[in-house]
Amino acid sequence: MALPKGFHWGGALAANQVEGAWREGGRGPAVSDVSTYKPKADPKEYALHHVNTVASITAALADDDVEFYPKRRGIDFYHRYPEDLALFAEMGFTTLRVSIAWTRLYPTGEELEPLAEGVAYYRALFTEMRRLNIEPLVTLSHYDPPMALALKHNGWVDRRTIGLFERFARTCFTEFGELVNMWLTFNEIDGIIRHPFTSGGIIEETVEGNLEQACYTALHHQFVASASVTRMLREISPGAQMGCMLTMLTTYPNTCHPDDVAATQAKERMLYLCTDVQAGGAYPRLALRALESRGVTIPFADGDAELLAAHPVDFISFSYYMSLTESVRADAERTPGNTVLGVKNPFLDSSEWGWQIDPVGLRISLIDLYDRYGKPLFIVENGLGMRDDLTEDGRVHDPYRIDYFRAHFEQMIQAVDEGVELLGYVSWAPIDLISASSSQISKRYGFIYVDMDDLGHGSMDRFRKDSFFWYQKVIATNGADL
Ligand code: BG6
Repeated sequence: MALPKGFHWGGALAANQVEGAWREGGRGPAVSDVSTYKPKADPKEYALHHVNTVASITAALADDDVEFYPKRRGIDFYHRYPEDLALFAEMGFTTLRVSIAWTRLYPTGEELEPLAEGVAYYRALFTEMRRLNIEPLVTLSHYDPPMALALKHNGWVDRRTIGLFERFARTCFTEFGELVNMWLTFNEIDGIIRHPFTSGGIIEETVEGNLEQACYTALHHQFVASASVTRMLREISPGAQMGCMLTMLTTYPNTCHPDDVAATQAKERMLYLCTDVQAGGAYPRLALRALESRGVTIPFADGDAELLAAHPVDFISFSYYMSLTESVRADAERTPGNTVLGVKNPFLDSSEWGWQIDPVGLRISLIDLYDRYGKPLFIVENGLGMRDDLTEDGRVHDPYRIDYFRAHFEQMIQAVDEGVELLGYVSWAPIDLISASSSQISKRYGFIYVDMDDLGHGSMDRFRKDSFFWYQKVIATNGADL
């Protein structure tokens, strides 16, 4: 059993969770800047999209606080990236997934020209990565639409956002195309249905009509934007690759009762809707029918169907953290997962945050996706959020994290052995960062510890965990020595 030569190994980050420097270089506010630290919330609540109103957003933006809005400070990657990249290079990374903050280039999303400072920042970042032989894998949109677009016209609900995004993407492809060959459009594009504000800049109280309709309208606009910028990338950088990005919420029937199996099948149909469109080029008939029965229609404009069909992605990327089960019983015990609540699986252990640990589910996911689409896959997020202790010796002893990764790598390698075409694996996240759901840093994912607590106190110095040295060995042996 061996991984192919040239397999990409590394880690994944998102601008809004690491950069900080929320007002530097003329950057405009993004929806992530009003996301608050939730210290006391029940983990089950993290899965729910919190309500943002125009009044609460306006008040938050008038407040300079970075304590309770941790994404504003991140882990100061904006200034410390040379040190962090050096640590990633020391681990042997061949690839690093990062995202570009739209509002660093276009503060409101509507300017006609990008900010020179933002362009210079990302060019310097990608140049340094290249110097260290780390290939950038770049997400154009990772949970940080411009706040100005959210307030002005509910973000992606408005079709005009497509054109603004195209302008942003064109800047990225022309300015960074010499340094970047692998791109992703929208992080976890399916997430807009579960957290419309974070993914789509949709403010529920200002939505006219039904929220679910607004979410699918916005999702359609993101599909159209994805296909359009895929076409653009092929014109500007013919050798570059474009991927889509799915939250792989692998779901098993909770029992073999046919009703549970049917409910799981219905859930999977909606799970695969996004990849069916982005990789397959068309909406699946059954998913459209299911939406119609709920009163949701897709706002096709002239040419949309042809555009989607003509410009599917080159590869499929996805996040995988855990699996869930589905049951028709309303009283089935539920547990949180990656922005969802699912039915608890009695055969699996969970993290403190309730996320169920299921390495075999990763193999199942790889095989399902490859079987369905036959396109190369890329695991662009996988990892374990845990509390860690920095010990006197300046280390973190994290055997639990090593165990998690080892078990997942074994299954990943087995899937490749069974014939799955897998381009690479980048963990979430190689360094501790601000959690997307709870804005905690104490939910630590990294191989590198960041000395900072949930309120931002600490030196922000970086320390290698035991898992750092273990992952270094894994990469050096291309997965042969786990
Ligand atoms: C994914 C997101 O959903 O899960 C990341 O793409 C996020 O941005 C990751 O950080 C882990 O979730 P959380 O809530 O633990 O940070």
